[in-house]
Amino acid sequence: MRILITGGAGFIGSALIRHMTSHTQNEILNLDKLTYAGNLESLAMVEQHERYSFLQADITDSQSVSQALAEFQPDAIMHLAAESHVDRSIDGPAAFIQTNIVGTYVLLEATRAYWSALSEDRKQAFRFHHISTDEVYGDLHGVDDLFTETTPYAPSSPYSASKAASDHLVRAWQRTYGLPVLITNCSNNYGPFHFPEKLIPLVILNALEGKPLPVYGDGLQVRDWLFVEDHARALLKVVSEGEVGETYNIGGHNEQRNIDVVRAICALLEELAPNKPAGLAHYEDLITFVKDRPGHDQRYAIDASKIQRELGWIPQETFASGLRKTVQWYLENLEWCRHVQDGSYQRERMGANT
Ligand SMILES: NC(=O)c1ccc[n+]([C@@H]2O[C@H](COP(=O)([O-])OP(=O)(O)OC[C@H]3O[C@@H](n4cnc5c(N)ncnc54)[C@H](O)[C@@H]3O)[C@@H](O)[C@H]2O)c1
Repeated sequence: MRILITGGAGFIGSALIRHMTSHTQNEILNLDKLTYAGNLESLAMVEQHERYSFLQADITDSQSVSQALAEFQPDAIMHLAAESHVDRSIDGPAAFIQTNIVGTYVLLEATRAYWSALSEDRKQAFRFHHISTDEVYGDLHGVDDLFTETTPYAPSSPYSASKAASDHLVRAWQRTYGLPVLITNCSNNYGPFHFPEKLIPLVILNALEGKPLPVYGDGLQVRDWLFVEDHARALLKVVSEGEVGETYNIGGHNEQRNIDVVRAICALLEELAPNKPAGLAHYEDLITFVKDRPGHDQRYAIDASKIQRELGWIPQETFASGLRKTVQWYLENLEWCRHVQDGSYQRERMGANT
C-alpha cells in the first residue's frame, strides 16, 4: 500500500512510521507541518529509507494537500496531525480549532476530490483512517464503567471538543459522500520519543534534574495507558483489516491513578538511575501537588474488546513492562531530550527542509 500519514513527525506518527518501515512493504509519505510537536529526529533511523518520504505541509492548506494526493497517489490516508496537548488547548484554543477541525475538513474535502476520481477498484480499496482519542467520551465516575464505541460524546476540554468535532466530520463524510473511513479512539499513549511536556517524560526528566514532579490536584485521576508501539500495531491492523465505517476503541487494559504513575517512575529511577542529584534522598521527595487543571476529567477507561474480537489485536506490553522500557529509553537517549529542551531540534529541521 501507499500510505499518506499526516502528523508523522509527532509522537504516535513517528512510532507508526518506524513500525511500518520495519514490518511492512508499504510506501509512506509523511505530511507534517512541523509545529513545536513535530520532531524529525524521531525519524532519523528511517529518513534514508527507500520507501519513506517527507513533505512539510499544513493540513489546512488545501492546495498543498491536493497536490500531495495527486503526486503520491495514496491507497490510504492515516490522519494523525493534530494539536494534542490539553493544557495548551486551555491556554490557547485557536490552534486546536484550526488544525483539528478546519484541518480535518480540508483534508476530507481534498481526499473526497481525489478519491472520487480514482478507478472503481482503487476507490473500493481506498481507506481514510482518522486517529482520535478516548477523551471525546468525557469522563467516567462509576468504577466499573468503560467507554465503548457507542458511548455518547461528552468532551470536556477545547482539545477533546475539537477532536470530537473532527470525528463527527469524518463520520459525516462517510454517510453523506460514501468516503470509506475508519475511526480509532485510543487511550493515553506513552513510550519512547514522547515530547517532554507530557506527564511521563516530564516526570522522568524533572526527577533526573532534581526538579519538582508536578501532580495535578490530588493525583487520583485515572487514565488507561497504552504503550505507543502497541498503538502502532493496532493502527496497522485497523487500516489493513478494519471494516469501513466502523469505529474501534484501542486501550491498554492498564488503568492507573496519576499519582501511582509518578510513584512507579520514581521507583524505576531508584533502580535504574541510583546516582541522584546532590542532596536528594528519594525521587519521590520531589512530588509536588499543584492546582488542578480546569475541567479535569476524573477517569478514562476503555473497553477494547471489539478490536480484540474482530481484528485479533491485543496489547503486548503491560504497564510495568512498557514503563520500564520507557524509563530505560529516556536514560539512554538524553541527547534527544536535550535537543527538545534547548530547542535545537527545531533549528536542525529548518536546515533539513530548506
Ligand atoms: N498522545 C496520546 O496519548 C493520544 C491518545 C489518543 C489519540 N491521540 C491522537 O493521535 C494523534 C497523534 O497524537 P500525538 O501524541 O502523536 O501528537 P503530537 O502532538 O506528538 O504530534 C502531532 C503532529 O502533528 C503535526 N501537526 C500539527 N498541526 C499540523 C498541521 N496543521 N498540519 C500538518 N501537521 C500538523 C505536528 O507537527 C506533529 O508532528 C492526534 O490526532 C491525537 O489526537 C493521541
